[in-house]
Amino acid sequence: MGMLRTHTCGELTEKQVGQTATLSGWVDTCRDHGGLTFVDLRDRYGKTQIVIDAASTKKFAEHLHSEYCLQITGKVQLRPKGTENAKLLTGQIEIAATEIKQLNSSEPLPFEVTKSQETNEELRLTYRYLDLRNPAVQKNLFARSKMYQTIRRTLDKKDFIEVETPILTKSTPEGARDYLVPSRLNAGEFYALPQSPQLFKQILMVSGFDRYFQIAKCFRDEDLRADRQPEFTQLDMEMSFLEENDLFSIIEEVLVEILKDIKGIKLATPFPRLTYQEAMSNYGSDKPDLRFDLKIQDVSKLVENSGFNVFASVAKTADGLVAGLCIPKAEASRKDIDTLTEFAKAEGAGGLAYFKVNDTGLESPITKFFKPEELAAIQKKFSAAPGDLIVFVADKKQVTLKVLGAIRLYAAKWKNLIPADQFHFSWVMDFPLFKFNEEENKLDSEHHPFTAPHAEDWPLYKAGKMKADQVRSRAYDLVMNGNEIASGSIRIHNAALQKEIFDSIGISDEEANLRFAFLLKAFKFSAPPHGGIALGLDRVLTILMGLDSIREVIAFPKNQKAVCPMTSAPSLVAERQLKDLHIKIR
Ligand code: AMO
Ligand code: AMP
Repeated sequence: MGMLRTHTCGELTEKQVGQTATLSGWVDTCRDHGGLTFVDLRDRYGKTQIVIDAASTKKFAEHLHSEYCLQITGKVQLRPKGTENAKLLTGQIEIAATEIKQLNSSEPLPFEVTKSQETNEELRLTYRYLDLRNPAVQKNLFARSKMYQTIRRTLDKKDFIEVETPILTKSTPEGARDYLVPSRLNAGEFYALPQSPQLFKQILMVSGFDRYFQIAKCFRDEDLRADRQPEFTQLDMEMSFLEENDLFSIIEEVLVEILKDIKGIKLATPFPRLTYQEAMSNYGSDKPDLRFDLKIQDVSKLVENSGFNVFASVAKTADGLVAGLCIPKAEASRKDIDTLTEFAKAEGAGGLAYFKVNDTGLESPITKFFKPEELAAIQKKFSAAPGDLIVFVADKKQVTLKVLGAIRLYAAKWKNLIPADQFHFSWVMDFPLFKFNEEENKLDSEHHPFTAPHAEDWPLYKAGKMKADQVRSRAYDLVMNGNEIASGSIRIHNAALQKEIFDSIGISDEEANLRFAFLLKAFKFSAPPHGGIALGLDRVLTILMGLDSIREVIAFPKNQKAVCPMTSAPSLVAERQLKDLHIKIR
């Protein structure tokens, strides 16, 4: 192994008993048992117990402190019967130290390394190097590294070429704010850090690299959350001469390999597919968690002639929807229902109506407004059994679905409907092409403006026979346990159609030229049909490792204010640097 160690701290077993070994690592724990001292020495491979006899303990005392970096030599011996540790690979043996060399000392620690996860996050990130010394934290980075190797191996076998695209570049339209970099050589001009390699990967298709991937850093200046960082990593891919099916099967294979290598799980393929409409109307979300069923049921028809005006009036309006969810075995108390009602209101509902199901039928303050056959029809619709709770929202379709979608997740947590340690993947397809921008009173792209519209819908829309919000695109998302982990689309490869799309979202020729001239020009040189996707690798790994925040799987993440507590970036710069960049701070 070299001069400073003969073995790692995770390596020695009964096989080496009797040999002399030298280990280097950090003092994990140090226990004094009446003169006899036990040190657990730790490195990234594991821990080995070192035993120091009473006579030597004094001699070595000055080295025996937490996190001191030591080199220890001694004979490998079996631990006395009954003191073995079956949890450790090295748990059968110990080293009787004859020599200890202090490689380095340590200042007092801000927290105990192996308990870093219990410390507040700001402190962990400030001392990230100590946090990352914790094996429980290190394991996430090892998994990340393994995932990268799996991706490269799998895609290399399938003829993909890995190409790096520029970091100093032009704005890409992914819908977030850009990070800008001032140019010293071009006064007053700025590069943008890429929000994704979107335009470059499409250009690579024009060049004929029909299968491209990149493990790409993306930069987006947006408000941060547990699943969002200002810089994050995508598995970015683009392919030519393909359709959705081809692309889906490749991504599925990549994920099958990742789950096999990291979790030892065999995933079934193909992943289920839903249309956006199905996802919304059944689950009230475009990223439904399908680890549990619990479907939303439309009851508008059942209640439109009822005596309950809250329902009847909404059911009769064109964009109204009365719908409900049946929470199985809810055994809901008055207080449970009040809490759920408050939750529904916070999500935007005007109120929440409910029926408790008991042995004689439905029970609620509002049963009196319904005829017995209406109540029976409702109970039947939900196949509701005694103990269940059926809740209803009556509102504009969008609001009803959003609130019930949120209640669905709330109920899953409340009633433990989500099986542990399960990974569920599904495709959501046929996203709307447009979304309405209320602020500017115009249409925007739902995905990005290079996404192809559905071939059937576009002519209808152009002929005025289809409303903007009904036009479907060839965009798709991949959902994992209720999280959007990937997004992509079949692209437009025809300059005329691209112009029609720009026109419909109010991007003028001037603006298109200013922002995407290079892409539009490239498309004039016979761009092939192409499409792609980007997989948010930080998110995938966070879910696989059962973590709550993507910061856990990023070596040096930013905090919620986009600050790196370890380096204190961002920070002020010297006046001199600003001058070079032709910048004055306002
Ligand atoms: P999109 O913008 O949907 O698509 O991003 C793809 C995936 O990247 C992840 N992601 C993020 N992860 C962490 N922090 C963030 N701030 C963040 N933003 C996005 C998500 C998301 O599903 N160019 C297109 C892809 C394409 O059309 O091929 C794109 O970037 O998991
Ligand atoms: P109200 O007539 O406003 O007292 O409401 C009667 C019942 O209907 C109460 O249980 C309300 O919570 C419920 N309710 C009111 N508005 C709605 C709504 N938009 N959707 C579902 N239930 C509602």
